[in-house]
Amino acid sequence: MSKEATNKGSRNAPPRASAMVEALRGLGYSPATAIADIIDNSVAAGARTVSIHFGWNGINSHILIVDDGRGMDENQLDVAMRLGEKSPLDERDASDLGRFGLGLKTASFSQARRLTVASRRNGVTNTLRWDLDILLADRSGRWSLLEGPHPGSEKNFECLNELENGTAVLWENLDRIVAPGHDEQEFLDVSDRVERHLAMVFHRMIENRRLRLLINGHSIAPWNPFLEARLDTWRSGEDRFMVNGCLIRTEAFVLPHKDRLDNKTWEAAGGPDGWTAQQGFYVYRNDRLLLAGSWLGLGRGRSWTKDEPYRLARITARARPESGAADPAAPHRTLPN
Ligand SMILES: Nc1ncnc2c1ncn2[C@@H]1O[C@H](COP(=O)(O)OP(=O)(O)OP(=O)(O)O)[C@@H](O)[C@H]1O
Ligand SMILES: [Mg+2]
Repeated sequence: MSKEATNKGSRNAPPRASAMVEALRGLGYSPATAIADIIDNSVAAGARTVSIHFGWNGINSHILIVDDGRGMDENQLDVAMRLGEKSPLDERDASDLGRFGLGLKTASFSQARRLTVASRRNGVTNTLRWDLDILLADRSGRWSLLEGPHPGSEKNFECLNELENGTAVLWENLDRIVAPGHDEQEFLDVSDRVERHLAMVFHRMIENRRLRLLINGHSIAPWNPFLEARLDTWRSGEDRFMVNGCLIRTEAFVLPHKDRLDNKTWEAAGGPDGWTAQQGFYVYRNDRLLLAGSWLGLGRGRSWTKDEPYRLARITARARPESGAADPAAPHRTLPN
């Protein structure tokens, strides 16, 4: 069959912009996981410091995330703001935490109806914006990517002027975070939950001083799930093996019993979801925590469940793509197929 014959009758069928993005809003992010996805981009861009600001002003509240990474020029910012521009099949740098080319947009839309990104590269700032209410009002279904900040929001980006390179992500119209009738305390509770989550997800990077996270001006202290600094934490010693060119390092920990810890330490060590929920494997990629406390469906016949007696058991599993080659001295074995 000729090529023309196969294509005969084909038509261009782009999705209607507002229907598509409204559907993408349901991807299941929380404010904390959404902000962590934005920070992944900052880390991939080489940022050393990321500042998160929760600005309370009733239904006009906003969240601003500013990094000092390498920033984007006009063309890179244009590509970054488009959906479906980068493919998961594209080659990526081994240290890149991104994969789908969507996180900036989907994480932002899950929490906010207006996303503005200003990026500064070599002292020049460019700004682009999506506004879901503008897409909704446009009956033609166009993907109207707007230029510049929303009138009145310019001051949020003044902080970039102090940097040679960097990026600021602004979320406004936070309809999933601030519903009418919500008060400031509820907004602060959200920022507390975000802080606890980021302290856990990025704890290794904060501990290694590779990353500094600030929330409303104060530094986020790392939350180490394994109480590694304590001598009475039992540890198995590290095991290393290669899977598909990826070095995996695992180590099991049994945390000290409640009787050995003061109340404050016990409470804090429980973690964001508490002692029973936080048992199991902690899976990392490039020192970024991907999964916090899971038995990964292990167990023959009947999967292991999270039970009270195992609440002190936590296991770290760290994956570093292609780092086996960079670390030839590392003792390792290959997993049997
Ligand atoms: N803070 C930032 N600094 C520099 N470049 C950025 C920043 N945020 C996003 N980008 C650029 O925009 C692109 C798109 O980001 P986006 O989060 O949408 O997708 P991704 O990170 O490629 O993949 P994923 O969907 O897995 O997050 C990134 O690949 C990166 O090139
Ligand atoms: Mg991303």
